[in-house]
Amino acid sequence: MTVAVLPGDGIGPEVAAEAIRVLDALGIEHAEHSFGGGAILSAGTPLPDETLAACRESDAILLAAVGLPELEGKPLRPEQGLLGLRKELGVYANLRPARAPGIDLIVVRELVGGLYFGAKGTRDDGTWFDTCEYTRLEVERVAHRAFALARERKGRVTSVDKVNVMHTSRLWRDVVTELGATEYPDVPLDHALVDSFAMTVVNAPESIDVVLTENTFGDILSDVAAAMTGGLGLAASASLGDEGPGLFEPVHGSAPQIAGQGIANPAGMLRSTALLLRYGLGLEDEAVALERAVDGALRAAPTLDLGGSSGTREMGDAVLRRLAA
Ligand code: NAI
Ligand code: MG
Repeated sequence: MTVAVLPGDGIGPEVAAEAIRVLDALGIEHAEHSFGGGAILSAGTPLPDETLAACRESDAILLAAVGLPELEGKPLRPEQGLLGLRKELGVYANLRPARAPGIDLIVVRELVGGLYFGAKGTRDDGTWFDTCEYTRLEVERVAHRAFALARERKGRVTSVDKVNVMHTSRLWRDVVTELGATEYPDVPLDHALVDSFAMTVVNAPESIDVVLTENTFGDILSDVAAAMTGGLGLAASASLGDEGPGLFEPVHGSAPQIAGQGIANPAGMLRSTALLLRYGLGLEDEAVALERAVDGALRAAPTLDLGGSSGTREMGDAVLRRLAA
């Protein structure tokens, strides 16, 4: 089994180094590849052909974060590499767990459709536009993921849309309702409007189980859920398609303000590594062991963002010690 590691920019390489130590400790083969802002500066593209080829040949991809302040506003941006990689790999389902004492929810976000991928541009009259589009198939396949996950967890699905205003939400709600009734009658399903549901995420996160939603809503709601459970430094994600390798990455970005100081919290990256072990390589026992090691290390050696004093490496050390034991 081989893992393609894309350290990326900013704090990316710092948190990736801790994940690499974990892969080494578990005896899992890995290789690093250029991606993001660094790749734009060295190769003129955020997603070099060699990197994409290596990703396709791997069993799973571990990506840290991209984003370079000096490239902001430039025509070529690191984030284009991110969207390009997701699209190329066909990873349409983005799983974002948020856990804390009393809270155990997971957002299943549609990742390669909607507003971020629809036609965009500028008209002669000066109007700028983005368009939100979905097909039945796009809704169905991500809904399957959410229902299957909820069934596995013996939980339920809350599908989030904006059916009172958006046309695509009508399709979303109809397809989800139909699929639930025909193929997952044992999984409880309810629907929520995104604005009031945002309040539920803040006021009653413990009442939520599996959230199924489209790309933009999922982007925002999962960051709010992350904030409710300790902050961006802790949040992990898995992006899965039907075949081929999955993409595993923390929710946070390249955090340029703290890059190079050795203080970034590697927990989001290490929890993403646990998701890689579980969903990417089928190593459930190792995934559970790593998640427990991270939870324990967070309690024993919290990083600066959590009010503690550990640096990136010390937190990594604490995780590795627990993993060895
Ligand atoms: P960010 O996630 O990089 O940072 C937001 C805040 O959280 C900052 O205060 C940062 O210091 C803190 N933070 C983030 N990760 C942390 C960690 N592991 N440990 C401790 N503190 C942490 O988001 P921001 O500032 O909006 O974006 C910075 C750059 O990252 C931009 O270029 C943006 O485009 C890019 N970005 C990339 C993403 C990705 O690679 N998937 C996702 C989000 C942003
Ligand atoms: Mg986001």
